[in-house]
Amino acid sequence: MKIALGADHGGFELKETVKQHLIEKGYEVIDCGTYSSDSVDYPVFGRKAAICVKDGEADFGVLVCGTGIGISYAANKVPGIRCARLTDVYSAKLTRAHNDSNMMSLGARVTGPGLALEIVDAFLNEPFSNDPRHVHRLELIDEIAEEFSK
Ligand code: RB5
Repeated sequence: MKIALGADHGGFELKETVKQHLIEKGYEVIDCGTYSSDSVDYPVFGRKAAICVKDGEADFGVLVCGTGIGISYAANKVPGIRCARLTDVYSAKLTRAHNDSNMMSLGARVTGPGLALEIVDAFLNEPFSNDPRHVHRLELIDEIAEEFSK
């Protein structure tokens, strides 16, 4: 399975920790940057990783910025992306099972590395339920995107 990673300077260090963890677990990683702690703009890296997921180059994406918020906003602007900003394991499972999220984001200034890796594992290991009511709700979200794309 291929995972796209993206981070700004605030998330760089945690992104490296996540990257190492995923490689050890046997995932293929596409590292969309950033590649140092120098100050950068989080939308650039949220966009890059989200495009990897949208185009099918990666199965899922994990993003990191200071709070996980800004970079999730950027990713969610890319059509077909459902990026959940996560701070707990329960939500990580539910956002896969109910929302079929294909990306998640972490806040390096919010969540420590130990919990962050548990969240990533929970997210990547949980399948979408395919329950018709959840499928229907996702279709309604797509309809909103369609309505406002005109
Ligand atoms: C960068 O200082 C910070 O704003 C960014 O990492 C993130 O927290 C934005 O949502």
